[in-house]
Amino acid sequence: MGSEAIRLGVLASGRGSNFAALADAARAGRLGGEIALLVVDRAEAGACQEARRRSIPEQFLDPGPKRTRLSPEAEKRLVRLLRDHGVRVVLLAGFMRMIHEDLLDAFPMSVINIHPSLLPAFPGLEAPRQALEHGVAITGTTVHLVDSSLDGGPILAQAAVPVLPGDDVQTLTHRIQAAEHVLYPETVRRFLESRPKVEGRRVIWPGAAALPAAPGSAAR
Ligand code: GRF
Repeated sequence: MGSEAIRLGVLASGRGSNFAALADAARAGRLGGEIALLVVDRAEAGACQEARRRSIPEQFLDPGPKRTRLSPEAEKRLVRLLRDHGVRVVLLAGFMRMIHEDLLDAFPMSVINIHPSLLPAFPGLEAPRQALEHGVAITGTTVHLVDSSLDGGPILAQAAVPVLPGDDVQTLTHRIQAAEHVLYPETVRRFLESRPKVEGRRVIWPGAAALPAAPGSAAR
C-alpha cells in the first residue's frame, strides 16, 4: 500500500474561510489528504489570497455566461483541470454555481459540499437569512455529498447552531461559520478514512454499528 496523500481539489467563489480551515487542517495532518488545487469562478475571490498565503496552487475558471451554473464547456475544462492535478475528491467551499453530470460522473460519490443550514431546511441562497425570517430556534450546517439537486445530496454530517435573541444575519452567519470550520475538516477526514456507503438517501459509515451507543443517542 502506498502512503501517498489523497489529492483534493477545492472550488470556491467567495471569502474562502472554509477553504482556509480545510487548508490549515491539511497542513496540520488533520484532513487525511492534501489540497492539490483551488479553483475559483471569480478572479477576485478572497479564497485566492488564502491560497497564495499558503502556497497552494490556484486557478481561475471562466464560468461562462450564466450566473448560477457553469457552462457545459466550463465544466469540461474544470474536469480536465482537476484530473491534470491528480485530484480524487472535490470539495465545494462556498462555490456558488450548480454542478452537473460532467463533474459528477468524473468524480462519482466524491464531490462534497457544505451548506449553512440543517438541510433539508433552507436550501439555496442566503440560508441564515431564511432561518431568521422563518423564526427557527436552531439552525446549523450540513456537509453532504453532491448530486444534481440543489443542496439535496445524502447527508454526511450536521452540526446545530442556536439562533439567539437579537441575532441578525451577520451574527448568525458568523456563528454558523465557526461551526463549519470545525465540521468540514472533521467530516472530510472521516470520509477519506472510511468511505461510507450510500443506501437510498442514508449514509452508512463502516463500523458505526459496532460503536457502543451513547445513552439517548440514535443508532445510524
Ligand atoms: C459557507 O457558509 C458555506 O456553507 C456556503 O458558503 C459559505 C462560504 O463561506 N456554501 P467562505 O467563502 O468559506 O467564507
